[in-house]
Amino acid sequence: MTVGQGLFVTFEGGEGAGKSTQIRLLADALRERGFRVLMTREPGGSAGAEAVRHVLLSGAAQDFGVRMEAILFAAARSDHVEEIIRPSLAQDTIVLCDRFMDSSRVYQGVTGNLEPGFVEALERVAVNGIVPHCTIIFDLPAAIGLERARQRASGATSPKGETIELDRFEKEEMETHEKRREAFLDIARNDPGRCRVIDASLSASDIAATVLSIVEPLLPAGDELGRGLEP
Ligand code: TYD
Repeated sequence: MTVGQGLFVTFEGGEGAGKSTQIRLLADALRERGFRVLMTREPGGSAGAEAVRHVLLSGAAQDFGVRMEAILFAAARSDHVEEIIRPSLAQDTIVLCDRFMDSSRVYQGVTGNLEPGFVEALERVAVNGIVPHCTIIFDLPAAIGLERARQRASGATSPKGETIELDRFEKEEMETHEKRREAFLDIARNDPGRCRVIDASLSASDIAATVLSIVEPLLPAGDELGRGLEP
């Protein structure tokens, strides 16, 4: 499917699956080959969406219900798509996005119990035609993912020295996480052209090699995708 001249790859899965490390490794590998790469994330990625991110992840919107949260995720996504993703793709950039529309399908749709029609309508408006060329789903038993997330949170500090705390979604029950895992796998089964599932319990280097082998065939051979334009 065509979303412009660039390449749009999204990364999905439960907490603690190692997505962010892998996105960084892939970005480094692609930049080394001379491609122009943008790493971004949701909720967030644009000024408006980052403002909404805080409201969502702090749990401030939780009391207002899952419909409200879903609309806020969609509002953030719309801003991110129009301000950052669409213009980047138009400039032949490879956009690597940590979570995108499938997270809303799973977290708000499946485990939030929102009606499918409501979630679909929000998705249509928010993505406005910008659908990932490829979605890499990091699959991990919920128990392992949660344990990793907890280890990160227990007294661990971020590179900036801030204490990392579990966000409100990470605090939810194991059962919910297992449901989400199944929901991501369902998405992959229903859209095999777009989605690829990776076993996130493998070593970081094995995962990195698999991620690269998935993205490599999507890269244009010639100069048409930002090659050589990286500063
Ligand atoms: P974050 O700490 O950014 O990411 P991760 O869990 O990937 O390390 O947290 C984002 C949280 O927001 C995560 O728990 C999933 C949730 N989320 C939704 O519920 N719906 C969405 O549409 C998106 C993008 C994220």
